[in-house]
Amino acid sequence: MFTAPSIPIVQGPMLGASGVELAAAVSRAGGLGSLAAAGLTAPVMRDAIRAIRAATDKPFLVNIFVLESASPDPAVVTSAIERLRPWRERYGLPPQTTPAKWAESFAEQFDVMLDERPPFVSFTFGILSRAQVEALQARGSRVIGTATTLAEARAWAAVGADAICAQGFEAGGHRGTFLKDVSESLVGTVSLTRSIVASLDIPVIAAGGITDGAGVAAILALGAAAAQIGTAYLLADEALTSAVWRKAISEAGDDPTRLTRAISGRYARGIDNEFMRAMRPVEADIPAYPVQNALTQELRAAATKANSPDVLSLWAGQSVGLARAGKAADITTNLWRDARDIMRANARRWAGD
Ligand SMILES: Cc1cc2nc3c(=O)[nH]c(=O)nc-3n(C[C@H](O)[C@H](O)[C@H](O)COP(=O)(O)O)c2cc1C
Repeated sequence: MFTAPSIPIVQGPMLGASGVELAAAVSRAGGLGSLAAAGLTAPVMRDAIRAIRAATDKPFLVNIFVLESASPDPAVVTSAIERLRPWRERYGLPPQTTPAKWAESFAEQFDVMLDERPPFVSFTFGILSRAQVEALQARGSRVIGTATTLAEARAWAAVGADAICAQGFEAGGHRGTFLKDVSESLVGTVSLTRSIVASLDIPVIAAGGITDGAGVAAILALGAAAAQIGTAYLLADEALTSAVWRKAISEAGDDPTRLTRAISGRYARGIDNEFMRAMRPVEADIPAYPVQNALTQELRAAATKANSPDVLSLWAGQSVGLARAGKAADITTNLWRDARDIMRANARRWAGD
């Protein structure tokens, strides 16, 4: 079972933006804070979980990507490196060499979860076996699987997950899709939430486009157990969001986000930039995650240092224009206060209470 925290808001795990401080602040405020652990080595992940425990006795969530080890075709890697050469030159970087590793080890990260027993664990990009789900549950963790379609939600329910994170196409960051092509898995948050709530007997945490109290009230009215919110925390004081990324969010105009696989090799939603536009014609040729992600890593670090948004992963959801700066605790409690005000006003207006 998924038991919602006292405020039914999950701070979405955000690789590159959500670490120990953000997770602890949201959990302390009564929501469910999340550690994005996919990019962490096992020892760093272990320390981070212990640091959250030291900062709060409230429940929290730890998230990783379900990944198999990559063994890319060397010719594909060579042409990907060649495609990135002019961009590296722009930032004065030496020629790319093949990285020592493509990604952190899923098996090692999973073992840390088993050892450290976080109250909630969530997964994206793939699915666990029933035995893996049961091993986590036996150690006291609630297991949440990310689904972008009803079929993926059914698959997670079938392996015994405690809850589904229903990720609509509005959401910022990577698509969690694992059964079909992303092009066949772009369901909006409203449709996805309703179809899962109506079809399966499993709590739904709805994610994508929920950025203010009205969004929280709406998703609870649809039958979700909680709202998972990422973009609205990107400007939080405790978020790890870089200065150049914060500036891009604050200055994003109308309809600024696009889906791209140019940066990491897996479709993700972010604020459109020069690199995403330039790569669009060759997007299909880019090696799959985590290979392209590893190949663009130094480039993105150099661009962040140079305060240039041109080649960055400016991940953000479709409602990015509603993100506001502030303390994570205030963002959390304000979202919930506004949601309750709207639910009460709607009850008065429509139900005659
Ligand atoms: C910058 C960024 C990074 C993200 N990284 C992860 C991640 O590591 N794991 C994950 O399951 N979801 C990730 N997500 C998805 C969020 O957890 C959340 O579901 C999503 O942001 C909700 O939609 P919203 O952006 O419209 O609020 C990320 C989202 C963003 C914006």
